Amino acid sequence: MSVARKARKVTTHTLLEMKASGEKITMLTAYDYSLAKIVDGGGVDVILVGDSASNVMAGNDTTIPITLDQMIYHAQCVVRAVDRALIVVDMPFGSYQGDSKEALASAIRIMKESGAHAVKLEGGSEVVEGVERILSAGIPVMGHLGLTPQSIYKFGTYTVRAKEEEEAAKLIEDSKLLEQAGCFCIVYEKIPAELAAEASKSLTIPTIGIGAGPDCDGQVLVLHDLLGITHEFNPRFLRRYMQLYDEITSAVQNYVSDVRSGDFPNEDESY
Ligand code: KIV
Repeated sequence: MSVARKARKVTTHTLLEMKASGEKITMLTAYDYSLAKIVDGGGVDVILVGDSASNVMAGNDTTIPITLDQMIYHAQCVVRAVDRALIVVDMPFGSYQGDSKEALASAIRIMKESGAHAVKLEGGSEVVEGVERILSAGIPVMGHLGLTPQSIYKFGTYTVRAKEEEEAAKLIEDSKLLEQAGCFCIVYEKIPAELAAEASKSLTIPTIGIGAGPDCDGQVLVLHDLLGITHEFNPRFLRRYMQLYDEITSAVQNYVSDVRSGDFPNEDESY
């Protein structure tokens, strides 16, 4: 990355330039001020306030229960922390499907109340009317195809999507549709690497993969997975860069033991 690009705020145009020049895009989730500050300082290009907050922050089994108010709260915390990255906020389940006017109203609330830069929503032809309406208000939209966790009860499992020809063809069609509608980027979740490569090549807008192989224009991971805080979640696509579950457990055990033994606080730690 050039020094000028490192210092400049990331915009949707930056991502298009990065695709055009073959520079990989990095995206990570964040849901709170403290970690968002670290992630932004670490040089990530896009911070996603993902509805995975429903799982990793709130302890739900799916992304379905998280509300628009809760997403706005997480987005506000992240916005306060970030200087450089583009901040994208997931539109939660029930805030955009089936009614394009409601989709626009939800997107406007996210932008006005959080100060984020863009929204993301799941689906292709089913939601394109909502996408167009949101875009007509000048709000940038990121698409999300492949495994779309808000439809988990339709899919039944979290296994790889679009392995069959018909679903792969729909993914390519939906990608074109979202590009034509004006989306600035599309996330591909858990699809075959070859399909992601073909789709990425056929688009002028960038694609960001999670479990979609190396040929997407960028990659995204859930921060808590990358840090090894969520130690029971072990999909093949996940690379853990730390084992924080073990490290935090051992720090807590040491603290408990020090307090119980009278070792903490010592004289230097007292007034
Ligand atoms: O909510 C989320 O974290 C996401 C990513 C997995 C792309 O949508």
